[in-house]
Amino acid sequence: MSPQFAYEKQTANHMTLASFLGEQLKAVNACIYEKMQSPVPLIPEIAEYLISLGGKRLRPLLTLACAELCGYQGGRHISLAACVEFIHTATLLHDDVVDDSALRRGNKTANMMWDRKACVLVGDFLFSRALEMMVQDGSQDVLEILAQASTTITEGEVLQLSSSYDLNLSETTYLEIIKAKTACLFAAAAEIGAIAGDARTEQRKALRDYGLNLGMAFQLMDDVLDYSADQEKLGKSVGDDFREGKVTLPVILAYQSGEDRSFWQEAIKKQPQNNKDLEKAISLLEKTGALNKTKLVAQGFVKQGLRCLDKFPNSELKTCLQELALFSVERAH
Ligand code: IPE
Ligand code: IPE
Ligand code: MG
Ligand code: MG
Repeated sequence: MSPQFAYEKQTANHMTLASFLGEQLKAVNACIYEKMQSPVPLIPEIAEYLISLGGKRLRPLLTLACAELCGYQGGRHISLAACVEFIHTATLLHDDVVDDSALRRGNKTANMMWDRKACVLVGDFLFSRALEMMVQDGSQDVLEILAQASTTITEGEVLQLSSSYDLNLSETTYLEIIKAKTACLFAAAAEIGAIAGDARTEQRKALRDYGLNLGMAFQLMDDVLDYSADQEKLGKSVGDDFREGKVTLPVILAYQSGEDRSFWQEAIKKQPQNNKDLEKAISLLEKTGALNKTKLVAQGFVKQGLRCLDKFPNSELKTCLQELALFSVERAH
């Protein structure tokens, strides 16, 4: 039995894709619930805490949608979609420890509720369970894509960590980081859906590219929202990136503008920062147009993503995927 997830209420308002694939998504949630079980009680306790807080389920939706777009009618994509969400959930558990974040999905992060060590280990469990699920699927291609995505995500997170406080981080390296830590899982989620649907090489590549572009836009906007969101709607703390000395595109662009460089040099490294520092950072990001410019970069990726869908005939599902791409830049959470 699958519990009622908070996201089901949340997404009905803004995600046509979630309602279009509602029944399948319920099956994915049931699968997630079943596969997160373990005889070691702390594992389902922590996993269920985070999973039952919902989240947008974008990556499993991508797998489901791409499989269906390629005409798949079986049930194999349900556990693949759950597997993708397990990888995502594992990265969230690890990421919140690494970023020392306090808020996730509108609630305290798991690392605020339990020992950080336990969160890291439960993240490991979810990664390993995902591995079991992909092996069970039996497709060598799926295994390769998801295993590679997991490696790449970690590389992205580590590259980002080692680039902390570096105000001279190039736009190119920043884009490489977000491609690795976020976009590659979106790409993989879409591609394995296409594989389930036995898509032709050309369609499979188009859907992978759609996912990749969507993921780039999504993370760029995440980095904008980190400075500009309504915290309540975002469900995460505004200012996390700034506090952690994470140099994202808005900061790179503001710094490149030459405006008040000494502020950035001092504030990015300062520990602990105060609220005034964050306010000043936000006002500089607005004054230099850095947030708007970042949004424009995100919109560029969305346009490329939408073009990838040209290869598919018009359908209600295709419209949902187009809307999802637009949502990635217009979202508040
Ligand atoms: C959060 O992803 C991590 C990023 C890549 C920014 P989501 O915004 O998809 O997280 P949930 O699953 O909806 O909570
Ligand atoms: C998200 O990184 C990418 C992964 C979880 C791998 P962020 O640190 O930018 O995302 P949020 O803001 O915590 O969701
Ligand atoms: Mg984070
Ligand atoms: Mg992070």
